[in-house]
Amino acid sequence: MTPHRVDTKPIDGQKPGTSGLRKKTSVFMSPHYLENFVQAIFEGTGGASGKTYVLGGDGRYFNDRAAQVILRMAAANGAAKVIVGKNALLSTPAASNLIRINKTDGGIILSASHNPGGPDEDFGVKFNAANGGPAPEGMTEKIFEATKSLTSYQILDAQDVDLSTTGEVMLGAMQIQVVDPVADYARMMEKIFDFNAIRALFKSGFRMRFDAMHAVTGPYARAIIEDELGAPAGSVVNAVPSPDFGKGHPDPNPIWAKELMDALHAEDGPDFGAASDGDGDRNMIVGHKAYVTPSDSLAVLAANAKLVPAYAGGLAGVARSMPTSKALDRVAESLGIDCYETPTGWKFFGNLLDAGRATLCGEESAGTGSDHVREKDGLWAVLFWLNILAARKQSVSEIMAEHWAAYGRNYYSRHDYEAVDSDAANALVAGLRDRLGDLPGQSVAGLKVDAADEFAYDDPVDGSRSAGQGIRVMLEGGGRVVFRLSGTGTQGATLRVYLERVETDPARLQDDPQEALAPIIAAAEALAGIKEHTGRDAPDVIT
Ligand code: G1P
Ligand code: ZN
Repeated sequence: MTPHRVDTKPIDGQKPGTSGLRKKTSVFMSPHYLENFVQAIFEGTGGASGKTYVLGGDGRYFNDRAAQVILRMAAANGAAKVIVGKNALLSTPAASNLIRINKTDGGIILSASHNPGGPDEDFGVKFNAANGGPAPEGMTEKIFEATKSLTSYQILDAQDVDLSTTGEVMLGAMQIQVVDPVADYARMMEKIFDFNAIRALFKSGFRMRFDAMHAVTGPYARAIIEDELGAPAGSVVNAVPSPDFGKGHPDPNPIWAKELMDALHAEDGPDFGAASDGDGDRNMIVGHKAYVTPSDSLAVLAANAKLVPAYAGGLAGVARSMPTSKALDRVAESLGIDCYETPTGWKFFGNLLDAGRATLCGEESAGTGSDHVREKDGLWAVLFWLNILAARKQSVSEIMAEHWAAYGRNYYSRHDYEAVDSDAANALVAGLRDRLGDLPGQSVAGLKVDAADEFAYDDPVDGSRSAGQGIRVMLEGGGRVVFRLSGTGTQGATLRVYLERVETDPARLQDDPQEALAPIIAAAEALAGIKEHTGRDAPDVIT
């Protein structure tokens, strides 16, 4: 087993996006592509020598091969130890937990999250720092810089490591510890939630359906929801991770989890439904005939946090990404705690969590989490809801109705225009940017613009500034439109249009969201000329 240096050249475009480097699988499998990026991770973070890492992924196509390459490279770069999930599987929140409890120097997670997997689909690599959270921008910048000047990478000549059984093995001078991916995570959940109350709920005949979408949460959900909490066998469906996610799109939203939506909207459907994404950090919550938007879910968790043992003492503060609805702000106000507004992407919550300024945080894109790890956590959100349902002994729709009656309802929707021509998408955003100064006071589709800006974030903990984080247009009466381009797509540009309007009239709290938002949708079109720029008549995905 000899380490050797392989000559290489910088490869263009290895700039980590909202969540790591995400490309077509074939790109990652092309010569030196993965190796270059992994070497850049090591070099951009001060070298791997003597360090300890966590490694695992969501099981998508190429996960197993990539893990073997990374192990050989870690060994050749002098790493002391790598903790790997059995079969190279780890959900993103479980990886974050392993980094934290083992105090490692970081971790490498193989995932393109909710994007489809397979030889013709997507693959991704993200680096998490020693706090367990996604590498902050300063770190991803250094990694990107390193990709631009690579002349070689180091790799060990060795056979594949057997990752199918737990235990310890050596690879050259590096120790590899293969761990059960579920055990430590399950232990952590048991400490956070009232498992006895949830067990009693299932005993009383409560029925749930958890759709793992053929992705990584299957084994976690089976072990926790069925084996530990006593939900009947079969409550967890699509529970075996598959390299192409059963040819599905492992994104837990009403479009891609339609099977679950249909089941929950059937007359005799279960009381509660939930789903998670490819790598287990996202969640979808749905009651019987009651879909809960991620923004509302976050607000409900905050409002009911005292029912959960780990948060019974109160929340230090809460945080949401800028495009997420302001439903959370209303709860924070009534609790008398701070509500931070951060740019899109989990990495911006890390400092607030580390500094103890926020306990709960979330994004409109189906991500919620807390200071228990430094990632969003799909199954955690599901258990949180189960804990609330067990304590309140009400249905999801009753809880939502009471919530809106107390705080008002933030009607909310996101319209995505996918694989748009990049130049057209940039022109749309540039056009808006140019007009920001003129917009206030103008009327668009009958609504007056109160304010308009391009969001920039000054991190209150480390003082760093992140500019260019989305165009915001505030409309009279509490309406809002946000325009931003996705940082996770792999094809052209994805335009995201976030629409929101607050309703406090008790008679208007149960309307259809798209209808309730019709004036805001018209204003968005009038503001940006979406049809003209993109040539599209309607969004590809509405959530
Ligand atoms: C999307 C979501 C964002 C989330 C990220 C990673 O990023 O919008 O909230 O943090 O995926 O899961 P985007 O494609 O919008 O840059
Ligand atoms: Zn994800």
